[in-house]
Amino acid sequence: MAKSSARKVTVPSLLRMKRDGERITMLTAYDAIMARLLDQAGIDVLLVGDSLGMVVQGAENTLGVTLEDVIYHTRAVVRGTDRAHVVGDMPFMSYQASVEEGVRNAGRLIKEGGAESVKLEGGARQAELVSCCTEVGIPVMGHIGLTPQSIHTMGGYKVQGRKRDQAKKLVEDALALQQAGAYALVLEGIPQEVSRQISECIEIPTIGIGAGPDCDGQVLVITDLLGMDEDFAPKFVKRYDNLGRRIGQAVSTYVREVRGGVFPAEEHSFSRAKKKDTPKANVDSQEDDKTELAETIPLYPGVRRK
Ligand code: KIV
Repeated sequence: MAKSSARKVTVPSLLRMKRDGERITMLTAYDAIMARLLDQAGIDVLLVGDSLGMVVQGAENTLGVTLEDVIYHTRAVVRGTDRAHVVGDMPFMSYQASVEEGVRNAGRLIKEGGAESVKLEGGARQAELVSCCTEVGIPVMGHIGLTPQSIHTMGGYKVQGRKRDQAKKLVEDALALQQAGAYALVLEGIPQEVSRQISECIEIPTIGIGAGPDCDGQVLVITDLLGMDEDFAPKFVKRYDNLGRRIGQAVSTYVREVRGGVFPAEEHSFSRAKKKDTPKANVDSQEDDKTELAETIPLYPGVRRK
């Protein structure tokens, strides 16, 4: 079934939002059911971030994520999305070795993953790659400031641009990426004064994470927003729920009910008898109503949509 293209968020519509002063909302997503929930809640951009290394794979950092991993998760997110713009994140070493390799791999995220644009980390040094991708029709979102793929160079996850020369370099990076054709920039872990200055001096939208309120949009990792890890509470995250605790409570109730024989109850159980008959129909009966069974079990969202 063809997807509805009504109100689809596109690269031109994101640029228009910046011009109109309309704030852009972005979140990470890694699977179809979450993408569907976020899309229906009105999110503008879904990023299949390499943060999936930590969130989905339980790794310590993003460095081990492969292009195949991002393609796999991007496909799932695209299946769950109607309206939001879907961005595939270029993982570490999928674009650093050469411009040619970078363009090829960006193309795979679009062609195989179904992403509508790609994101990559780095400032002016990525200008040639951004320009080549843009020329062949691959829109690029840049990412400067705290760039997690450079964790070993930065010596940890540290706010970037506090010193005057670092702040100046960030502004130059933003201008170089815009000049190369990037359609938006993620600003991560940057003092708010610096991200305000960058947002004011470029025409493409800035999307901040730990970069203060003056960016043109905001992004968070979805599991942080939902409070799924009670032990992870960095300053830049606002928790909108305590889902970690609530999931724990729901599952411990399930464990108790299964052990106590409370679940499944009569209403969760199928019977050979039709609804109007008594559930205690003769098990030896030849009656075989597969049609009714098929109608009783709803399809999963992904199956329903396609
Ligand atoms: O990988 C990711 O989730 C990101 C966002 C935090 C911007 O790059």
